[in-house]
Amino acid sequence: MVQVCLSMKVPFPSIVMLVLLLCFVSLSHVRAQSSSNSEAKALDVVLQQYAYKSLVNPKTGTIYNATQLPSNLSGVKVSALRLRSGSLRRKGFHMFNEFDIPNGLIVKPYVERLVFVYQNLGNWSNKYYPLPNYTYLTPVLGLLAYDALNLSATNLPELEINPSGDPISVKFQDVKSPPHGSVAKCVWFDLKGDSNFSNVKGGNTCSTSQQGHFSIVVVKSSVPLGPKDRGEGEKKSNKKVWIIVGSVVGGLVLLVLFSFLALCINNYKQKKKMQGMERAADSGETLQMASVGDTKAPAATVTRTQPTLEHEYAP
Ligand SMILES: *[C@@H]1O[C@H](CO)[C@@H](O)[C@H](O)[C@H]1NC(C)=O
Ligand SMILES: *[C@@H]1O[C@H](CO)[C@@H](O)[C@H](O)[C@H]1NC(C)=O
Ligand SMILES: *[C@@H]1O[C@H](CO)[C@@H](O)[C@H](O)[C@H]1NC(C)=O
Ligand SMILES: *[C@@H]1O[C@H](CO)[C@@H](O)[C@H](O)[C@H]1NC(C)=O
Ligand SMILES: *[C@@H]1O[C@H](CO)[C@@H](O)[C@H](O)[C@H]1NC(C)=O
Ligand SMILES: *[C@@H]1O[C@H](CO)[C@@H](O)[C@H](O)[C@H]1NC(C)=O
Repeated sequence: MVQVCLSMKVPFPSIVMLVLLLCFVSLSHVRAQSSSNSEAKALDVVLQQYAYKSLVNPKTGTIYNATQLPSNLSGVKVSALRLRSGSLRRKGFHMFNEFDIPNGLIVKPYVERLVFVYQNLGNWSNKYYPLPNYTYLTPVLGLLAYDALNLSATNLPELEINPSGDPISVKFQDVKSPPHGSVAKCVWFDLKGDSNFSNVKGGNTCSTSQQGHFSIVVVKSSVPLGPKDRGEGEKKSNKKVWIIVGSVVGGLVLLVLFSFLALCINNYKQKKKMQGMERAADSGETLQMASVGDTKAPAATVTRTQPTLEHEYAP
């Protein structure tokens, strides 16, 4: 360690530049990955607000369509449905637009009433839920559950919903026919924006045990890519990001340690030099380092009195 430090003649500025560059690259990479999901989350917040605005003296179990969406979201459709959680559990709700909600649904934490917000993202599907290598055959539909206690509330967290019986089914209308030879798949985006794939039933129906966003897709390329492969690919790229972040942080820590060590050694050497010079000044000698085996030791260059052996001069 010390040897490395002593012989380190690597220019520090270049290391610093490299580390900063790595830092920048990895940070921008991480940000790029999470940005599309945060846009989708922001859209959920906006659409919850518009859905709740449509609930003016609402009747329980009646579907209300939001009519006053901003013009920059034209093409998006939003509906709201307020239900008692007890009745939802006993009876379910049969056909909230494309969603068939079975009985047995348990809402957590307990609320007396809840609102289901329905979203149809229309031609905005690709923008908010980009899925590389896949083509959407239907718009992305969303189903999200919120507490109905305060209909003016914004930024509400989603409730947890768990089916104790049948799953929720999504019966898509007007599914575009998949290109010849390709297999359509259901895609589900969970609340974190992670995607998962499952099989389509009856040509237009997907099942889900969770809320989130749903659509039917086909693989773009001719070589079919299974959902397994994709999941693994995503995991791999996530791993890559963490490796980059980890090595950058590790590199920074090492850099700081090395700089500190180098500084210490430099100080120590300077102190030693000063002491040596002082000693040399005191004795009027110049000291040089001479190698004795592996270690270095100070040695006098000029010896004033040669050691003499008495017996040489013996008469
Ligand atoms: C409400 O919206 C849904 C889906 O967007 C649509 O099927 C339904 O016809 C609309 N209802 C009314 C009353 O406009
Ligand atoms: C739509 O416009 C409003 C202002 O009218 C803006 O606050 C909002 O961010 C815009 N939304 C999108 C999705 O562009
Ligand atoms: C979707 O269509 C509407 C018109 O119906 C348009 O104003 C909007 O820009 C389109 N959105 C996208 C992302 O193309
Ligand atoms: C999309 O397909 C291309 C070529 O088949 C592949 O290189 C790329 O990794 C795929 N992207 C994703 C996100 O799966
Ligand atoms: C409902 O939410 C709005 C917006 O957050 C807030 O101003 C209002 O005080 C809340 N009302 C109740 C009864 O909590
Ligand atoms: C994706 O779906 C499969 C099959 O239903 C399931 O085993 C897996 O746990 C799901 N993955 C995630 C991240 O939910």
